[in-house]
Amino acid sequence: MPMTPERWTHASSYAQEVFGVEPPHIRANKAAADAAGLPTWAITGEIGRFLALLAGATNGELALEIGTLGGYSALWLLEGLGPHGRVITIEAVDAHADFAEAEFNRHGVADRISVRRGLARDVLPVIASEVGPGSVDLVFIDADKESYPEYYDVTSDLVASGGFLVIDNIFGTGTTWINDLSDPGVAATDRMNRKAVEDDRFDTTGLFVRAGMLVARRR
Ligand SMILES: C[S@@+](CC[C@H](N)C(=O)[O-])C[C@H]1O[C@@H](n2cnc3c(N)ncnc32)[C@H](O)[C@@H]1O
Repeated sequence: MPMTPERWTHASSYAQEVFGVEPPHIRANKAAADAAGLPTWAITGEIGRFLALLAGATNGELALEIGTLGGYSALWLLEGLGPHGRVITIEAVDAHADFAEAEFNRHGVADRISVRRGLARDVLPVIASEVGPGSVDLVFIDADKESYPEYYDVTSDLVASGGFLVIDNIFGTGTTWINDLSDPGVAATDRMNRKAVEDDRFDTTGLFVRAGMLVARRR
């Protein structure tokens, strides 16, 4: 049966309806972000469940995220890590960081999710020297695509054995797609994808969900 735009749209809605059910505090976070007029760039509920599932599968305690927005995916990561989990999340836009910090306070998890403000390019090396190589159980990258190769280089060293590196939008965004390599963000993503799959420290695949997700498990 051929895929049509209608089938694609229906399947996306169906996935969110059936598999995207959120715990009450995560649902409240999305409602508050919508009410506050934050950009609608957050992952969807079924992807949140996927992140939580991977985080839980590591039996680890630390996740690192690039791209906080309103804190939706960070809350899912924490949910997956369980009661001893901690999340470090990087955000360049103060209005987003302010909103996310207020949400983490409201939901009683501010002591377990740390928002690091600034451009990831500047903040990542500082975090890398704080946590050290092989210390992060799950890295989730969901920010500016032009920097994806650089983010891959820095964060791949940080992933613990058995841990995951998950990268969103590996086939495109709301405005770009992987067939247009003249776009600098797409070209950078393509470079990273090809580099990642050759990296023999990881088992890696690219999933065709939403705008594509790279999932790599450190050997
Ligand atoms: C797609 S949104 C993140 C959504 C979030 N991960 C979620 O699913 O709930 C991308 C976020 O990355 C931030 N961002 C973009 N470029 C950045 C950079 N160079 N350094 C840090 N944050 C950046 C944006 O301000 C935005 O809040």
